[in-house]
Amino acid sequence: MNAVDRIIAPSILSADFARLGQEVDDVLAAGADTVHFDVMDNHYVPNLTIGPLVCEALRKHGVTAPIDVHLMVEPVDALIPAFAAAGASWITFHPEATRHVDRSLALVREHGCEAGLVFNPSTSLTHLDYVMDKVDVILLMSVNPGFGGQSFLPSTLDKIARARERIAASGRDIRLAVDGGIKLDNIGDIARAGADTFVAGSAIFGTDDYGATIAAMRAALEDT
Ligand code: DX5
Ligand code: ZN
Repeated sequence: MNAVDRIIAPSILSADFARLGQEVDDVLAAGADTVHFDVMDNHYVPNLTIGPLVCEALRKHGVTAPIDVHLMVEPVDALIPAFAAAGASWITFHPEATRHVDRSLALVREHGCEAGLVFNPSTSLTHLDYVMDKVDVILLMSVNPGFGGQSFLPSTLDKIARARERIAASGRDIRLAVDGGIKLDNIGDIARAGADTFVAGSAIFGTDDYGATIAAMRAALEDT
């Protein structure tokens, strides 16, 4: 896999929300590929963040890069058309958060977005068994969802390899993303385990020079 196949997706959870449009412009100008948009409801996860109005506001501000909406909400179905209308590109959700996973995945595609399932550290990949033809992205949480700035759980590395095997066996073009605790010192190991998409919040927005940080991440990926 070469460098262009790797996606660096800054999580705006760690951005300065008072200057969100400028933060997103800056991180994209600094070389990010997509915008990771964390939606939390104080129900599925113990935190509360942003909804479709903010996604729409970023599009109106002029953001044209893909917006990757990570739903940490329960239930999910009502928000899928709302985020699609607000300009989402990908919509991912947790299988525990919807009663009918197959239906929710289909709903995402019906609304013109790429669909994905998100796996908490303790969630089994068996949720993929009957829906591999309905997912465009698999997102593995390497922390428990709800907060930025947590430490990467090492058990994720083996899970990445298992997910990569499933993708290879399916013969499908499915992205494998990892979210939580990704830093300069572990992004190489995460890539070697089989991930191609790297969500990083605090590791990027917590630095002064987003361009230098993203360039250093790409350099670490070059070695894999
Ligand atoms: C956690 C979110 C992540 C989070 C990652 O629930 O899904 O996207 O913002 O933040 P860092 O990179 O700081 O772990
Ligand atoms: Zn996320």
